[in-house]
Amino acid sequence: MRFPSDPRERPIAVFDSGVGGLTVLHELLVRLPNEDFVYLGDTARFPYGDRGPDELRRFSLQIAEELLARGAKLLVVACNSATAAALPALRRRMLETTLGVDVLGVVGPEAVHAVTATHNGRIGLLATTATVASGAYAAAVHAADPHVDLIPVAAPDLAPMIQSGFPFDERVVEVVRGYVAPLVEAEVDTVILGCTHYPLVRPMLQRMLGRDVRIVTSGAALARQVEHALGSRGLSSPRTGEGAYSFLSTGDPEAFRMLGTRFLQLPLGEVEQVRLHAEVAA
Ligand code: DGL
Repeated sequence: MRFPSDPRERPIAVFDSGVGGLTVLHELLVRLPNEDFVYLGDTARFPYGDRGPDELRRFSLQIAEELLARGAKLLVVACNSATAAALPALRRRMLETTLGVDVLGVVGPEAVHAVTATHNGRIGLLATTATVASGAYAAAVHAADPHVDLIPVAAPDLAPMIQSGFPFDERVVEVVRGYVAPLVEAEVDTVILGCTHYPLVRPMLQRMLGRDVRIVTSGAALARQVEHALGSRGLSSPRTGEGAYSFLSTGDPEAFRMLGTRFLQLPLGEVEQVRLHAEVAA
């Protein structure tokens, strides 16, 4: 594959377990309209949230290889489960093998944002089982402020339900209510949505949590960090008009396109089916 010789003109690569990371891409497209993006959704292996850390590291390294082969200037892990399990391994691999490509993930910026948002020092976390079990948010929150309490709630059914359950019915409302109950009980004043899918039920969550509870999502905080990383490394696109964005899916491209529009809230266009190279040692 041939890439522009000027690294600033190369795309930012974003990946996720499926279409959920399009909520993160949405924020990136709004904040950085001049950049080109390539997004890979591993829909064939969705969901990631009940997988173990070794498997998630293996999948993430495989995907990173594919995206680097497509000339990425920066790698963004939009998936919370993959960030929680694989960010250090991805960074190590980038240092060993490539041309100084940086990797940014969703956990750190979101945790810092939550710590600056809380007034009572009690932050709730809603995330997949894999993300909660990793302890990555607890580590990031406590690195930012050791006095803050994090109340984590694993929500194993929520992402698959959001993905398949549109339009939402009472069943979704009841499942969400069950996950929110321990957070209301703990009197948190800030809640981290630690999964790409949850912004789609944000109105429901806000209503159940109460209007004064601050809800923190990963996309906006990450987009600020991506902008900073590009600027400080001299990698911002020199273009003045809008950039292009394209999609790769490991599963059925038509299903990705149909479902993806809901998450991206922008037209998707063509989706290319991609076959990842077999195994990459974690
Ligand atoms: N992108 C995934 C995450 O944020 C969605 C859920 C899943 O794959 O289980 O964890």
